[in-house]
Amino acid sequence: MKVGIDKLHFASSHLYVDMAELATARKEAPDKYLIGIGQSKMAVIPPSQDAVTLAANAAAPMLTAEDIAAIDLLIVATESGVDNSKAAAIYVAQLLGLDRRVRTVEMKEACYAATAGVKLAQDHVRVHPAKKALVIGTDIARYGLHTPGEPTQGGGAMAMLISAEPQVLALADDSVLLSQDVMDFWRPLYHTTALVDGKYSSNIYIDYFQDVFKTYLNEQQANIADFKALTFHLPYTKMGLKALQSVLPLASETQQAALLAHFEHARQLNRQVGNLYTGSLYLSLLSLLLTDASLAADDLIGLFSYGSGAEGEFYTGRLQPNYQLGLDQGLPQRLARRRRVSVAEYEQLFNGQLALTAADQTIDIADDPHRFVLVGQQNEQRQYRDQWL
Ligand code: HMG
Repeated sequence: MKVGIDKLHFASSHLYVDMAELATARKEAPDKYLIGIGQSKMAVIPPSQDAVTLAANAAAPMLTAEDIAAIDLLIVATESGVDNSKAAAIYVAQLLGLDRRVRTVEMKEACYAATAGVKLAQDHVRVHPAKKALVIGTDIARYGLHTPGEPTQGGGAMAMLISAEPQVLALADDSVLLSQDVMDFWRPLYHTTALVDGKYSSNIYIDYFQDVFKTYLNEQQANIADFKALTFHLPYTKMGLKALQSVLPLASETQQAALLAHFEHARQLNRQVGNLYTGSLYLSLLSLLLTDASLAADDLIGLFSYGSGAEGEFYTGRLQPNYQLGLDQGLPQRLARRRRVSVAEYEQLFNGQLALTAADQTIDIADDPHRFVLVGQQNEQRQYRDQWL
């Protein structure tokens, strides 16, 4: 029995800031952001969206009544949690109208946790093949205005339905993991923005990829030539390019060119969104599958997941014949329709998040076209709304 990703659907904001404009405002050369970092646009997440609403907005459009009846496990992976105790997954299950008899948990390990979710869901479905699991990676990447990490912000959520006989990607049981205590990026409880040793984190990322990928090749007696494409967690798209380049000497010249060409497809959508932490690898997978016409059934795809702190995993999946049916086909058009905000508006929205105080608060949702929105806080409880009701 095959188990894997049956459907993939993405949600982010309807707003973005242009990276060349941001570079100019920060007195940097535009090419530093466009080429050196590899980002063209950055999603600007308004105060009316948080990890919960992004997750619900990502999952709702792809779920049929039949899916909802079959889901008995919901994993929400996030490092942008909205409560120190209650799982974001409980709010998400309620907004999506999932059954009350669903196991709902939130998982955390920086950008890696959605991969833990996918692999746990894979095992769950293997044991319960009639059931489906919903895994959502949802985050808002925040480093702060005028910080070196600023051009690597962004946000969004990737929802994945894991099932038996999946439409998109049948997952193998071949993971190689690496988990060690590394202080490359973290966010103490009293901070709303991440602390990061940027250069160090980028070096650790490469070290982890080298370690798990080469161990994978040894353990599986595999060759880089077996892969149609390699996909990466993309905190900024140049990071994935550097990781890919670090193993290209293992490939023939022809395959090097092919892997680089596939990578351009795999970073196309991430380039327009920025980092979305847990969902980033899976947005890159979706980007590859939506934009690369040269893929075919049975192609072997490699996935490198990395979360600071640090944990890495390399695993693989095989493309299924009808994979296009499980994809968020409208995504490129939705990204193209977003509204461009000025740097001043982006800064205002960045600073307009729900304040971390006990006071009642109201958020202006007039400009937010998404179905699920955060409308404020009352009696120290977050207030969500389904705008379709
Ligand atoms: P920086 O110091 O501003 O940038 O920080 P830089 O001076 O290193 O320049 C960046 C690149 O632009 C360099 O290329 C420059 O040469 C190039 P590289 O040498 O790296 O190949 N450049 C230019 N290129 C073309 N034309 C120009 C030009 N000028 C310069 N005119 C940094 C960059 C990424 C470190 C910073 O933005 C940062 O700290 N970001 C956050 C940390 C991060 O994303 N780390 C990635 C690995 S860790 C990870 O992936 C986990 C994470 O997602 C969190 C989680 O797990 O939850 C972050």
